[in-house]
Amino acid sequence: MQLKDIPAVFELGQELFTAEEMPTLYRCWDDHELAELFNTNGETCLVAEADGEIVGFALGSVMEKPRNAWRYGWLEWLGVKKGYKRRGVATRLLNQLINLLIDKHARIMLVDTDVRNHAALAFFRKHGFGQELRHVYLSQNLENHPKYIEKKLEEEEDTQM
Ligand SMILES: CC(C)(COP(=O)(O)OP(=O)(O)OC[C@H]1O[C@@H](n2cnc3c(N)ncnc32)[C@H](O)[C@@H]1OP(=O)(O)O)[C@@H](O)C(=O)NCCC(=O)NCCS
Repeated sequence: MQLKDIPAVFELGQELFTAEEMPTLYRCWDDHELAELFNTNGETCLVAEADGEIVGFALGSVMEKPRNAWRYGWLEWLGVKKGYKRRGVATRLLNQLINLLIDKHARIMLVDTDVRNHAALAFFRKHGFGQELRHVYLSQNLENHPKYIEKKLEEEEDTQM
């Protein structure tokens, strides 16, 4: 992936990671995150091209955890354009990324996806990912918090003045 590819990758991600396909609020596809990832881990950001058009991407990073000698490779975002799926594009991107991560001394590779993302789960399982751990996300509506109500009233008073 090159700097000039950022807009096309961003656009493709927007098509793929819609609220419907990615209902979790905990990660969001935005241009700042993409630019930041490219800046810090550009060597492990890959694109797939067909007829000069970007039809897929795999954005990976390498991380070291404090007090842990192991280096981890992380596939942060993977996507293939509609019309190009089930043709092995993601498989080629993943294999290429694994080679790069090993070059960077990663010993374990991590991926994550929503439990309802059956295509991605089938893809990752086929490619040898396992040891699945479920992580529970919890949330609370802060609109009922006294501080929230107080702040809202203050803001309403301010706009009335
Ligand atoms: C998941 C995704 C990246 C797969 O891309 P792809 O290029 O179609 O994958 P490949 O062609 O390399 O598929 C390899 C294997 O994965 C599995 N697979 C892929 N898509 C599948 C689907 N929709 N249903 C079931 N299995 C699927 C199959 O075993 C497939 O092999 P086969 O075609 O011989 O049966 C693609 O569907 C996608 O972009 N999804 C939306 C974005 C997303 O969810 N990203 C992952 C989380 S960041």
